Amino acid sequence: MAEARKLYIRTYGCQMNVYDSERMAEALGGNGYVEVSSPEEADMILLNTCHIREKAAEKVYSELGRMRELKLARPDLKIGVAGCVAQAEGAEIMRRQPMVDLVVGPQSYHRLPEMEREAGQGAKVLDTDFPEEDKFEKLEARPKAKRGPAAFLTVQEGCDKFCAFCVVPYTRGAEVSRPASRILDEARDLVDRGVREITLLGQNVNAYHGAGPDGDWSLARLIRELARIDGLARIRFTTSHPNDMGDDLIAAHGECDKLMPYLHLPVQSGSDRILKRMNRQHTAEGYLRLVERIRAARPDILLSGDFIVGFPEETEADFQATLDLIEAVGYGSAFSFKYSTRPGTPAAERPQVAEAEKDERLQRLQALITRQQRAAQDGMVGREVGVLFEKPGRMPGQMIGKSDYLHSVVVDGPAPEAGTLSRVRILASHPNSLLGECI
Ligand code: SAH
Ligand code: SF4
Ligand code: F3S
Repeated sequence: MAEARKLYIRTYGCQMNVYDSERMAEALGGNGYVEVSSPEEADMILLNTCHIREKAAEKVYSELGRMRELKLARPDLKIGVAGCVAQAEGAEIMRRQPMVDLVVGPQSYHRLPEMEREAGQGAKVLDTDFPEEDKFEKLEARPKAKRGPAAFLTVQEGCDKFCAFCVVPYTRGAEVSRPASRILDEARDLVDRGVREITLLGQNVNAYHGAGPDGDWSLARLIRELARIDGLARIRFTTSHPNDMGDDLIAAHGECDKLMPYLHLPVQSGSDRILKRMNRQHTAEGYLRLVERIRAARPDILLSGDFIVGFPEETEADFQATLDLIEAVGYGSAFSFKYSTRPGTPAAERPQVAEAEKDERLQRLQALITRQQRAAQDGMVGREVGVLFEKPGRMPGQMIGKSDYLHSVVVDGPAPEAGTLSRVRILASHPNSLLGECI
């Protein structure tokens, strides 16, 4: 048998890219590739890229610059660019960095094996089409290899919301939901391979409306059916849009034991003026009322969010309204970003906030979030939580896992092995993790 060729994938951006990278590695497995962990030993390098902010997109070109050295030393090396930069910039990538062999957009991954063969014959190949078919069904079946205890599963992709700052509707295309039966099959397969926790992924995951045997299923219905799979212990989903948080999904948070008490629910801003300019289609008050309803269904739920500071025309008063909203909600964690101008999006043309102002606002917002995050973590001390153990810690005998609330929890030995779901008493709160003991 020919020696396996070596594939190195570097993944940027969101969890969906992590999932896509797994699927691409599996698909290229059919072409005789095995994954390796360093670019130096690879026969093919694939960068799975993110276009969400300018820095993320530019990183790709500096990375390609470094890869160029490898290719000069080994001309047989193939270099591919996948993901959202591939979609957004297409042929421009090969123009800026001519040693790139292959450019493939997120909706064309089913063509990757064929494209790799063409590239192997010396062709430059590019595909950034938006075909109608479900690309995942066209990809080869996932091999039966053992898996870690936690896995991602994409159920919905794309976005029809067109927030004024965001490239995702252009890079991922229109909202598409995968059929429920395919998702259930994939989930059962993951569980057979050792997975105990599945995070359902979508750019607007709660807008899910995939075909089921008896009409379209909502995300809540899908979760209830997934919960019937023996051996699957935990279900999560991300990312949700506030306007798609239906009553049935809120109810599921109160009724479905396997659905974990953690919800990422981005709001971006607390100012109605800015929310309107962002085209978010909801108000700050509407968001706060939604949070109340979610907490009524599941009082201990931990919320996280995304915030953009320095959106065009954001005043100090608008920013203050965001801080007020954060105070009112009390987040368990949050991600915050300085607004980044994205070519082709409506907000790019509007009056921009000065960089120094953005920096200052980001610092103030992050200080508040850090305080809330610490408070939420400290509040766990003395409590008993479920922990799914995933990997050994730094000290001998230690194991690290995720709590129901998605905190990292470290337990000293003798600790249970990876894949075990245990009840753990939280003993102490450290900056980035909790210390616990198994009960
Ligand atoms: N679908 C998700 C978010 C996808 S992008 C949602 O609707 O919330 C992830 C986060 O990146 C966004 O929530 C937003 O906070 C941030 N983001 C998107 N575009 C941005 C931009 N142009 N500048 C800064 N942050 C941005
Ligand atoms: Fe982007 Fe808005 Fe769609 Fe989220 S909902 S992916 S922020 S356009
Ligand atoms: Fe980035 Fe594309 Fe995800 S732009 S955040 S990789 S959907």
